[in-house]
Amino acid sequence: MRRPHRLTARAADRTVYLRSHPVLFALLAATRRRPVLRLGRTVLVHHPEAYREILTRVPLDRTAEHTTGGTAARLTGGGLLFDQSGPEHRGSRRELANLLGSDGIAALRPHWQPVLAGLEAELAAGPVDLVPVVRRLAGATAVALTGSTADPLALAAAAERAAATTARAHLPTLLPRPGAERRARRAAGQLTALLPDPRDAMLAVAAVNTTLAALPRAAAWCARVDRWEQAAADAPALAAELLRLTAASPVLPRAAAANATVLGHPVRRGDRLLLVARHAAEAHRDTPTGDPALAAQAPFGLGRHACPGAALARAQLADLLAALAPHRPRVLRTTANPRSALPSYRSCLLGTTPARRPG
Ligand code: HEM
Repeated sequence: MRRPHRLTARAADRTVYLRSHPVLFALLAATRRRPVLRLGRTVLVHHPEAYREILTRVPLDRTAEHTTGGTAARLTGGGLLFDQSGPEHRGSRRELANLLGSDGIAALRPHWQPVLAGLEAELAAGPVDLVPVVRRLAGATAVALTGSTADPLALAAAAERAAATTARAHLPTLLPRPGAERRARRAAGQLTALLPDPRDAMLAVAAVNTTLAALPRAAAWCARVDRWEQAAADAPALAAELLRLTAASPVLPRAAAANATVLGHPVRRGDRLLLVARHAAEAHRDTPTGDPALAAQAPFGLGRHACPGAALARAQLADLLAALAPHRPRVLRTTANPRSALPSYRSCLLGTTPARRPG
């Protein structure tokens, strides 16, 4: 039997960060032990309690530049959940609660299950790249959620392009990026053209990009530490743990809308906040040392804007792990995607363990 090797799984998973944003993630790793650290007008927030306080207690400017909401609003005209507040936001969340609650998930499951049935057959025949499989799964789910008539792969690809071009246009950089803003606007336009209601663009972007980042990384981690027995016995618990360990949306860029004190550190109105979800989730540890419930929730944010798709993501990963478990695949090769909006694999090749020779 192969020996579980957690360090190898974590080190292998880390390559997605080193390929996409090496400087940012080196800075975050180097400052991890400082609960809250000010660098000029930017505040790095690593500590789980500080992360919780900011997301639940500190007023945030949802449309400020270089924040998720502000970026979405500038490209699309706004009103797309991330940038909303007050009664407008509550109304949008109520509509989503039905779509993404337990009844909604039960109604969506038949849209992604055929993709997993196809995966089982493919895996029995030879090595499989999990990334296109998850792209089909995410696209089929996004089509069902938005009522789009587009091909699922085309919708997923448009959502990936919109997120990647937007991230490139809005990340701080020393070098000019001619045409980046124009490319981001064009990609956002191409995505909304595939949707009956253009306001669903952010839903498609949020659903597709996180799923594409999270599921292949989580499945590769499971294969590297050989936890297929647990995947067969209790896939939902393993899915929740792997979503914490991989923290697919590792940094939340936000802005403070008022002065506040967080764990004794002053935060000023207008400060840029980099909320390190990865460290709040204690993704760098096998077992959280703080509040385990907070660590499990941290990858999905907290408070009024917390991810409404968390239960769906857990259900999809659990189904993926359960489909893979009987085949006990191992990782043959992974390649990081340097261009994706979230740290992700470009390919993740899995193959079944060769049968042992008798004797
Ligand atoms: C592993 C998968 C996922 C991760 C790690 C993730 C993470 C997050 C995070 C960190 C936020 C911001 C929370 C905050 O500001 O406090 C968020 C918001 C959001 N997510 Fe997810 N998400 C995932 C899957 C999904 C899926 C599958 C959907 C939809 C089907 C979705 C839809 C959304 C939406 C619409 C918002 C904006 C909510 C608002 O501003 O009120 N997410 N997500």
